[in-house]
Amino acid sequence: MCGIVGYVGGQSALDVVVTGLKRLEYRGYDSAGVAVLSDGGIAAAKKAGKLVNLEKELVDRPLPGGSVGIGHTRWATHGGPTDANAHPHLDNAGRVAVVHNGIIENFAALREELVERGHTLLSETDTETVAHLLAEEFSSVGDLAEAMRLVCRRLDGAFTLVAVHADQPDVVVGARRNSPLVVGVGEGENFLASDVSAFIAHTRSAIELGQDQVVELTRDGVTVTDFDGAPADVRAYHVDWDASAAEKGGYASFMLKEIAEQPKAVTDTLLGRIDGAGRLSLDEVRIPDAVLREADKVVIVACGTAFHAGLIAKYAIEHWTRIPCEVELASEFRYRDPILNRRTLVVAISQSGETMDTLMALRHAREQGAKVLAVCNTNGSTIPRESDAVLYTHAGPEVAVASTKAFLTQLVACYLLALYLGQVRGTQWGDEIHAVVRDLARIGDDVERVLETMEPVRALARSLADKDTVLFLGRHVGYPVALEGALKLKELAYMHAEGFAAGELKHGPIALIEEGLPVVVVVPSPRGRSVLHDKIVSNIQEIRARGARTIVIAEEGDEAVVPYADHLVRIPATPTLLQPLVATVPLQVFACELATARGNEVDQPRNLAKSVTVE
Ligand code: F6R
Repeated sequence: MCGIVGYVGGQSALDVVVTGLKRLEYRGYDSAGVAVLSDGGIAAAKKAGKLVNLEKELVDRPLPGGSVGIGHTRWATHGGPTDANAHPHLDNAGRVAVVHNGIIENFAALREELVERGHTLLSETDTETVAHLLAEEFSSVGDLAEAMRLVCRRLDGAFTLVAVHADQPDVVVGARRNSPLVVGVGEGENFLASDVSAFIAHTRSAIELGQDQVVELTRDGVTVTDFDGAPADVRAYHVDWDASAAEKGGYASFMLKEIAEQPKAVTDTLLGRIDGAGRLSLDEVRIPDAVLREADKVVIVACGTAFHAGLIAKYAIEHWTRIPCEVELASEFRYRDPILNRRTLVVAISQSGETMDTLMALRHAREQGAKVLAVCNTNGSTIPRESDAVLYTHAGPEVAVASTKAFLTQLVACYLLALYLGQVRGTQWGDEIHAVVRDLARIGDDVERVLETMEPVRALARSLADKDTVLFLGRHVGYPVALEGALKLKELAYMHAEGFAAGELKHGPIALIEEGLPVVVVVPSPRGRSVLHDKIVSNIQEIRARGARTIVIAEEGDEAVVPYADHLVRIPATPTLLQPLVATVPLQVFACELATARGNEVDQPRNLAKSVTVE
């Protein structure tokens, strides 16, 4: 939440910062602002609303040029989305400017203290206190990095801060605790940003900052210390994707592009992880085999779409390894005193690697002695860094707020993990496992085939644009798929959408069914567990008898559903456990198209942000 950029170098800071903010707008779009060091002072502009409002402001009232600057795109926490609450915040003398991502929990006390000392605070934000504290500390130590260290030691909560001071005009200083900040290392220029996409057009050399570190950037140097000023260890890395991956590339939205990228994302996530003999090789799972063999419980923690991936993973893990698996919303986990010990394997699933609820859950798990394995899409982010091991998904950057390709790759990673646990623990390797490995190897092609047949789904979505409610039903792994379909529709189309386990219908939700109500039903494969299939066919008949307009997602060749489907969406025949990889895709397309037909902006749904770095 909130995107931050800092720049020092030879280019126009304003251009670099505003372009960087465009890449980070997915992190929040309540307001945006910039500050540049110029003519011995600070020139700043900020505007409520999307970045485009700031860009317009900069055309109407241009800022002077400068080669050192900072910028911010906001997801509001303290104080509404107004011009006054937009970042950067300056001290009363206008000598220091600061941008912030996170929440400073003790800001009320700090604010009171500042007011007593004669400061005038102009916004309702927690951030503004930092600008004033930095100004005070700078006036006694005369160095922005040292002032930042002194201030950070007084702050509680989560924060990434980036600041400039007019009296040290060749320096940008950043600090981080529990919120992301990466350094981009260029030639004669350096960058700070919430994620690498902000500077990827300029450099692919990055430095990951650790917890409680302060970084000082000049044109030619990067110095990192801890909050006490001791030199800190940092990890440099090369970003393995380029600027084009973070651009729309001809698609109308990032979401459409990311949906289309799924076959490749799925294939990339499998790459090099299954050998020719069908054995899993997950070298990065640095948890000793002995520990994995002894694990007596798997607990998955995640939020939102990643939580749905976890719900599906449970079916695979329990079926293939026979280890009990619990799946829990990360935001609930640590508050209910969960039973964990050194034999518990906790799997934290997160695209961004920065979700605060998931981070707090994993910290709680580690404190109780559990081993934590992260399934993550963002190299160098906090969740993998604080985990015992990480299994990276290779979806590439996901920019649209609604998760699509990350979800599919999370599923692939979870299947790989389940198979790997089975392999390490010597689970009987029946024909089924070999068949699964074979099916996984061709799943990218299956996803591609689904994408090629989506026009009727788009037409159907457009025809439903004036509806108020859509329900989603599924059984077995189709149930989390139904939940995911409903979540996508809620967040993009702002409609009432709910997912149910089809078997639960008769226990209440069936009362919602009325004439013409669209109900999407995810039908498991009729091969294998035919009981499951038969049950859901009965459920379709039950709702249709009560007037529902049935939208049935069923595999090719499943003729039993045909008489009861008002709309039939075909997906390739896939074993039930893997079916979510193909069954979710039409639901993503459906939500995206329906939201577009309602005039909504799919990449940036209202009230949301992609990376949720507050609890
Ligand atoms: C929904 C969506 C969110 C995220 C959730 C977790 O489309 O994207 O529900 O899945 O906020 O985010 P990560 O995976 O970054 O931890």
